[in-house]
Amino acid sequence: MLLLMITLTITRLSNAKECRREVKLHAAGFKPVSNHWRLEQHFSDVILSEEFLNLGVEQVCSLISSDKLTIASEEKVFEAVIAWVNHDKDVRQELMARLMEHVRLPLLSREYLVQRVEEETLVKNSSACKDYLIEAMKYHLLPTEQRALMKSTRTRMRTPVSLPKLMMVVGGQAPKAIRSVECYDFKEERWHQVAELPSRRCRAGMVYMGGLVFAVGGFNGSLRVRTVDSYDPVKDQWTSVANMQDRRSTLGAAVLNGLLYAVGGFDGSTGLSSVEAYNMKTNEWFHVAPMNTRRSSVGVGVVGGMLYAVGGYDGASRQCLSTVECYNSSTNEWTYVAEMSTRRSGAGVGVLNNLLYAVGGHDGPLVRKSVEVYDPATNTWRQVADMNMCRRNAGVCAVYGLLYVVGGDDGSCNLSTVEYYNPTTDKWTVVSSCMSTGRSYAGVTVIDKPL
Ligand SMILES: *[C@@H]1O[C@H](CO)[C@@H](O)[C@H](O)[C@H]1NC(C)=O
Ligand SMILES: *[C@@H]1O[C@H](CO)[C@@H](O)[C@H](O)[C@H]1NC(C)=O
Ligand SMILES: *[C@@H]1O[C@H](CO)[C@@H](O)[C@H](O)[C@H]1NC(C)=O
Repeated sequence: MLLLMITLTITRLSNAKECRREVKLHAAGFKPVSNHWRLEQHFSDVILSEEFLNLGVEQVCSLISSDKLTIASEEKVFEAVIAWVNHDKDVRQELMARLMEHVRLPLLSREYLVQRVEEETLVKNSSACKDYLIEAMKYHLLPTEQRALMKSTRTRMRTPVSLPKLMMVVGGQAPKAIRSVECYDFKEERWHQVAELPSRRCRAGMVYMGGLVFAVGGFNGSLRVRTVDSYDPVKDQWTSVANMQDRRSTLGAAVLNGLLYAVGGFDGSTGLSSVEAYNMKTNEWFHVAPMNTRRSSVGVGVVGGMLYAVGGYDGASRQCLSTVECYNSSTNEWTYVAEMSTRRSGAGVGVLNNLLYAVGGHDGPLVRKSVEVYDPATNTWRQVADMNMCRRNAGVCAVYGLLYVVGGDDGSCNLSTVEYYNPTTDKWTVVSSCMSTGRSYAGVTVIDKPL
């Protein structure tokens, strides 16, 4: 059989050349090959691209019928189909039924079915599509044990292959700002070095977004910087992207609704309340509403679609902070939520199972090993088990259901150790393999291991 190859360029950053990644897609009807597998892995990125909209119907069907599609929710598949049809509506609307055969409507929520799917004109205009909708409604009405008896591929859960992960530790102070970057391979339980930062950087914000790592702002040994470097794990290469508007070190960085936020920090003379956001597509930073409080050494995390800024240091009152505020991007407003039980500046903040963790940090010279966790559903903080070591300015990330804390300093030494928290056992365990060097103020994030 003839293999029809098309080249798909995932334009996550549309214009930014360095961020284009070529993915080869094998067309419909052919056996999945590794490249096809790769495309399934990045489906959420693919559907944003012009190239997806220009695929043929066979290719789209092949992609969306795959059990291995990696998506946060089946909504993505429905939206992709609608976007693809609308791209050339006159020609494509008669293909709706053929495409919808592969959209697993029963896996969508009732609300989404009623509010979005049923209201879609393309669905209304096709009796076959309406049948698929009825099938989905029926699925929701049936008792669980009878659902299993429905003979339809559309009720089958997708089972994406989860990519192996690496934990990436970028720059930091050891004891001066450094360029070194190392990765921990969870499977091999080993550290290895990857491409160094283009320039020294510590106290930066770090995120993983659209397959790239972003090192945002920080301190280069002499100045607080507004520069941003991005790392492509596939190419093992760093490149610069647009500068922030403000200089910031000890900021918080997080991804909310596809934008990268840089929150608070220190510009060299004062603590910042300002917040800016980065759009990958336009390669531009813009200010959003500032926080209610100036916060340097702030920790941030995203839970339930809200961005939380936790503790830090308020240069005005010269106090370490116990207050916490959260940002709603649709109202562009910061609101205080429940305070922590204690003041924490330089706490490690991470999110695991929809809970926000604040790990260690300090209040004046006192470095903490205590940990508390915030539940947005109840707006309450509670204490969990202490870490093995006191740590401030450590990096935090969550992976495989565990919360990892990397390095930091205990008040006298920069630490090369890593420990993780298991919420099921409420226990901290020190990882046997240490980093090559002690670092505080390093950036830490989890990435997909390049193939
Ligand atoms: C650890 O890093 C701090 C900055 O966080 C630096 O001032 C200090 O000298 C370092 N300590 C050691 C023992 O390297
Ligand atoms: C820090 O950044 C400033 C401004 O970008 C630059 O002039 C200086 O050389 C940098 N210092 C180091 C140590 O890289
Ligand atoms: C943001 O605020 C709007 C308006 O009050 C609300 O409808 C929405 O649910 C909020 N977002 C989140 C993630 O809570």
